[in-house]
Amino acid sequence: MTSIYVFNGPNLNLLGARDPDVYGRQTLADVQQRCQQVAAELGVDLIFRQSNHEGELIDWIHEAGRAVADGQSLGVVLNAGAYTHTSVALADAISGAFVPTIEIHISNVHAREAFRHHSYLSPVAAGVVVGLGTYGYEAGIRALHHKGFVQ
Ligand code: DQA
Repeated sequence: MTSIYVFNGPNLNLLGARDPDVYGRQTLADVQQRCQQVAAELGVDLIFRQSNHEGELIDWIHEAGRAVADGQSLGVVLNAGAYTHTSVALADAISGAFVPTIEIHISNVHAREAFRHHSYLSPVAAGVVVGLGTYGYEAGIRALHHKGFVQ
């Protein structure tokens, strides 16, 4: 069965407790459960992970790239958290591994501080979902599954 990876970056393990006015009250476990339901509906395997470490996220993107190259995965839904705004290395991993990636953000980063308006990832992403709350994860999974959407 083909897979979809969902990767979460720094501080997303705090979801539910962290700035609930911005990110809502759902925990990352709640998000994972919903992603699992959507994946089951679509008939794909879900690989759902979180890391606070940039290098680990990079290694996972490389892993996903190999799975895509082998025809075993459709790509990655990525909420890179604050690394979105800082990490050339993550952007290079996405383009270097040729992995279709949907960048997502729970909050509307464009309505927040100026330093959140720039993303190093958007130019190499297949698509970007911003400000739809945790529904963005579901939207990203459905988009990857949708034929013809991927890069
Ligand atoms: C976020 C937005 C980022 O600016 C922030 O650093 C996060 C979460 C979001 O999901 O809205 O950690 O990616």
